[in-house]
Amino acid sequence: MSAKPAEARARVAWRAAPEAAPCAPLPRVRPHHTPWWTHIRLDFRRYRATGDSIGTILLSQGFWASSVYRISRAAITGARPAFLRRPLQVLATLAQKLVEIVTGICIPAKCDIGEALYIGHYGAIILPRHGRIGHNCSFAQNSTIGVAGTGENRGAPTIGNRVFVGAHSVVVGKITIGEDAMICAGSIVTRSVPPRAVVMGNPARVVSYEGSFDHVLYDGMEIDVDRSASKEART
Ligand SMILES: CC(C)(COP(=O)(O)OP(=O)(O)OC[C@H]1O[C@@H](n2cnc3c(N)ncnc32)[C@H](O)[C@@H]1OP(=O)(O)O)[C@@H](O)C(=O)NCCC(=O)NCCS
Repeated sequence: MSAKPAEARARVAWRAAPEAAPCAPLPRVRPHHTPWWTHIRLDFRRYRATGDSIGTILLSQGFWASSVYRISRAAITGARPAFLRRPLQVLATLAQKLVEIVTGICIPAKCDIGEALYIGHYGAIILPRHGRIGHNCSFAQNSTIGVAGTGENRGAPTIGNRVFVGAHSVVVGKITIGEDAMICAGSIVTRSVPPRAVVMGNPARVVSYEGSFDHVLYDGMEIDVDRSASKEART
């Protein structure tokens, strides 16, 4: 049976998508300028926006992991006076290793992550040391964002704002995931994903351009002009 027109269009667009598909270059990622406590507060608000109680949030391994990441990142990039950075780096490495052992969640301090990260459930989550992740992204349990490829093509993904990465997904290589993309559970993504694309399967295929709008919730999303513009641009 032939595919529905929208699906057919989505598949054509996917095949045509260049390896380095245009992805918003994370214009508002300012990890060096946002204090770690502000990052933690914004992360906390992501959990609140999804309806979690304060108790649930404080007991959430994802929140522990992102909090340690925020502090570690501040320690290695912006600690003052500068001579403190070396000892703080050692402490940050130890704290991160402890978090990794306890939670199974690995967020290297060198990974660039925007504001308001949400890690909803306990389970191995691996983020890349040299990856870039936008604002208001969500990662479900057992998702891996990692390095792949050889030579010039070796690298880690750049993930746009408001991307949802579903459970048991693997996103690897020097690719870009466009803003508001939805990586469905169990997807294996090795090619760039256009903005607002919903991809699923192994290998992942675009099934629609409905985006992640129903799955990524955060305070003020209704008045976020970036999100509204992206939503308007849906085909
Ligand atoms: C994509 C998703 C949002 C469902 O989307 P949906 O549009 O409601 O999809 P439907 O349930 O209507 O299914 C549409 C089709 O896609 C298939 N499908 C849905 N999700 C799929 C997935 N992750 N992988 C492969 N196929 C999938 C369905 O089997 C169905 O196929 P059919 O048309 O042949 O019957 C959901 O499957 C998903 O992956 N969500 C992420 C869940 C997650 O990781 N949660 C973490 C919190 S615990």
